[in-house]
Amino acid sequence: MEASAWRGLAFTAFLLNFVLVCQLLLLQPLVSASDGILGNSAELFEKVSQNVKVKRYSEALDDLNAAIEADPKLSEAYFHRGSILRQLCRYNESEKNYKKYLELKPGNSAGEKELSQLLQAQSALETALKHFDTGDHPKALEFLDKVVLVFSPACSEAKLLKIKLLLATKDYSAAILHTGYILKEDESNLDALLLRGRAYYYLADHDVASRHFQKGLRLDPEHGELKKAYFGLKNLLKKTKSAEDNVSKGKLRLAVEEYNAALALDPNHLTHNVHLHLGLCKVLVKLGRGKDAVTSCNEALNIDGDLIEALVQRGEAKLLTEDWEGAVEDLKSAAQSSPQDMNIREALMRAEKALKMSKRKDWYKILGVSKTASVAEIKRAYKKLALQWHPDKNVENREEAEAKFRDIAAAYEVLGNEEKRTRFDRGEDIEDMGMGGGGGFNPFGGGGQQFTFTFDGGFGGGFGGGGFPGGGGFEFHF
Ligand SMILES: *[C@@H]1O[C@H](CO)[C@@H](O)[C@H](O)[C@H]1NC(C)=O
Ligand SMILES: *[C@@H]1O[C@H](CO)[C@@H](O)[C@H](O)[C@H]1NC(C)=O
Repeated sequence: MEASAWRGLAFTAFLLNFVLVCQLLLLQPLVSASDGILGNSAELFEKVSQNVKVKRYSEALDDLNAAIEADPKLSEAYFHRGSILRQLCRYNESEKNYKKYLELKPGNSAGEKELSQLLQAQSALETALKHFDTGDHPKALEFLDKVVLVFSPACSEAKLLKIKLLLATKDYSAAILHTGYILKEDESNLDALLLRGRAYYYLADHDVASRHFQKGLRLDPEHGELKKAYFGLKNLLKKTKSAEDNVSKGKLRLAVEEYNAALALDPNHLTHNVHLHLGLCKVLVKLGRGKDAVTSCNEALNIDGDLIEALVQRGEAKLLTEDWEGAVEDLKSAAQSSPQDMNIREALMRAEKALKMSKRKDWYKILGVSKTASVAEIKRAYKKLALQWHPDKNVENREEAEAKFRDIAAAYEVLGNEEKRTRFDRGEDIEDMGMGGGGGFNPFGGGGQQFTFTFDGGFGGGFGGGGFPGGGGFEFHF
């Protein structure tokens, strides 16, 4: 009884062993290159190559794994497996396979070459990552393109790094193109969805960006970066809208806060922030905060130097800061870019007038009287100053005195005349009054030093209608 049981067991063991041996015998001709049946292993490697060509890397690897399991001495299979793993940038595994190959075929030159290329690719990827981390984007791209993507065209880590580099160098359309390649092969690639969404985001194509983030989040609702990108975008749009709504409701101070909050969300989002800076600049102009407005408009113009609206607003802001020349300059170039715009022309005229006004002399100041001074006060001030600054009495500082004297006379010419004084107070053009804007009234007449000014009421008997006969000197009798 016992003996027969043992026999049965032994027989079972024999049968199992037989089956195993048969399997091996059946398999061996399929995969072994060493036993001379080359045709079949050539067929396997042909199939592997075909799969690699159509990027079915895992199928190719499965075939090679099975072959090696069946014949651990099948050297070519290690070689092929090393090559596929290298293309996938699974460098450590690849290295093991090439080493095994070289173990089976010591000194094989193809194997040595492959191994050294593999190590080159591996170190290039490490270098590229290092440069990316330190922000040296051109170097990183160089290593990726020249080495990694040549030896490891199926390396998703390298492809994604390349797209990150394209984003970092603001080449958004290239980033869209390259994420497209990845998504064509794997439409649920979360990294590619994230990066493609970001490219659209930075192009301010916010709807398309949002759709990419949402698609990724449907596949993985807990994906941290996708969540951050999606909700960050939502928040930005919400803040922007809130700022704009506050503007249209006339709540300018709240709008300023909302604009600043929106701008703080993503300083890199230039295509969107340019509008935020401009909106903020406009509100600040309305609030009369010229200096801050200039800063905001500068930010907008730094991003887009052709933004005419920002140029106009900066012109307005400069008027507020009394930078008349700057205002005229900005509005002039805006008017040149947009000649049909009547509002710009109107603003330019305002600025030009303000500039002119700023250059004209303040006759009140020159006579040292207030704007409300009476006729008598003005007359008194004039007499006193004319005496004080008469060139004949200032031989030491004749040039200075002549200039002063000219101004004093011109001031009296305007302020001593009711009509001219009124026009001056209204800010009317001085040149309309027949005086040179910059130089002011010239009491010395045309050439020489003929002094021909008059004033009603007389100046004592002294020099009524008097002049200063030529020859370079003045006569001024009292
Ligand atoms: C590859 O091997 C190196 C050591 O040789 C190790 O530092 C590295 O982490 C390995 N990489 C991977 C992806 O396993
Ligand atoms: C204005 O801004 C506040 C936040 O400061 C916001 O709560 C509010 O909704 C905004 N108003 C409008 C009309 O959008």
